[in-house]
Amino acid sequence: MTVVVVTGASRGMGTLTARRLAEQGCTVFAGARRPAAVAEQLRQEPVGGDLRPLALDVTDDASVASAAQEVEAAAGAVDVVVNNAGVAGTWAGPGDVGPEDFREVLDVNVLGPVRVTRAFLPLLLRAERPRLVMVSSGMGSFAHQTGDPVYADIAHLPYPASKAALDMLVVQYAKALPQVLVTAVDPGLTATDFTGGAGHTVAEGAAPIIAAALDTVGPSGRLVDADGAAGW
Ligand SMILES: NC(=O)c1ccc[n+]([C@@H]2O[C@H](COP(=O)([O-])OP(=O)(O)OC[C@H]3O[C@@H](n4cnc5c(N)ncnc54)[C@H](OP(=O)(O)O)[C@@H]3O)[C@@H](O)[C@H]2O)c1
Repeated sequence: MTVVVVTGASRGMGTLTARRLAEQGCTVFAGARRPAAVAEQLRQEPVGGDLRPLALDVTDDASVASAAQEVEAAAGAVDVVVNNAGVAGTWAGPGDVGPEDFREVLDVNVLGPVRVTRAFLPLLLRAERPRLVMVSSGMGSFAHQTGDPVYADIAHLPYPASKAALDMLVVQYAKALPQVLVTAVDPGLTATDFTGGAGHTVAEGAAPIIAAALDTVGPSGRLVDADGAAGW
C-alpha cells in the first residue's frame, strides 16, 4: 500500500492529484484547510479508491502537527508527500508591493512545505522509498524567466520569488536527505481558480505531479514538467 499526503486538495490540481492517486491504488490523505469540502466532493462524486479528507492548513503549526499525528495513527508511515498548496499573491507593480504582500505568499508557498516536510519526515523515513514532491512553477524558473518569450512581459514579484525559493529547497532537501527522492514539478499554465481558467486542462497540469508522486527512480533534486526533466 502506497500512502500519500497531498496538501491543498480542496480544489484544482490538488483535488485531481489526490483522486487519481487513490484510483491507482494509493491510500491518499487529502489535506485541506476545509476538509468538509473534500468530504462533500466525495459525497457528490465518489472515488474508486481510498481517499480520506485530512484537516491541514499549511500555515498553521498546530494544524500540521495534528495532521501528521492523524496520519501516523491511521497509516504508520507515509511514502509520498505532495506539497501542492499554493497562492498567487498580488500582481501589483514594484511601486506598490511591499513586504506585507510577500508574507502570505511565502508563508503558504515556502514555509508551508517546510512545515509539512518537517512534520511528516519521521513518517516518510519509515517508508521503503520515500518521495517528496514540491509543486513549483515555471514562474520560479530562471531558465523560463530569462530565456522564454512567453514570460518576457510578465513581471510579478512575490509569486516567482516564492517558487524560486521552493526550487532551491528541493536542491537542498535532496542533498540533505539522500534516502528521499525529492522532485520539483512545473505543471505549466493550468485552468484552475488560480489562473481564472487560463491554460491547459487540470488533468494535463496534474499529470506530471502524479507521475512524480509515483516515480521511484529519480534522480533526486530536479525540476520536471510534462516533458520530463526541465531547466531550473
Ligand atoms: N494553475 C497554474 O497555472 C499553476 C501553474 C504552475 C504552478 N501552479 C501551482 O500548483 C499548485 C496548485 O495550484 P492550483 O492551480 O490547483 O490552484 P487552486 O485551484 O487555486 O488551488 C490552490 C489550493 O491550495 C490550497 N491552499 C491555499 N492556502 C492554503 C493553506 N494555507 N493551507 C492549505 N491549503 C491551502 C487551496 O485551499 P482552499 O480551497 O482552502 O483555498 C486550494 O486547495 C500551487 O502550488 C500553484 O502555485 C499552478
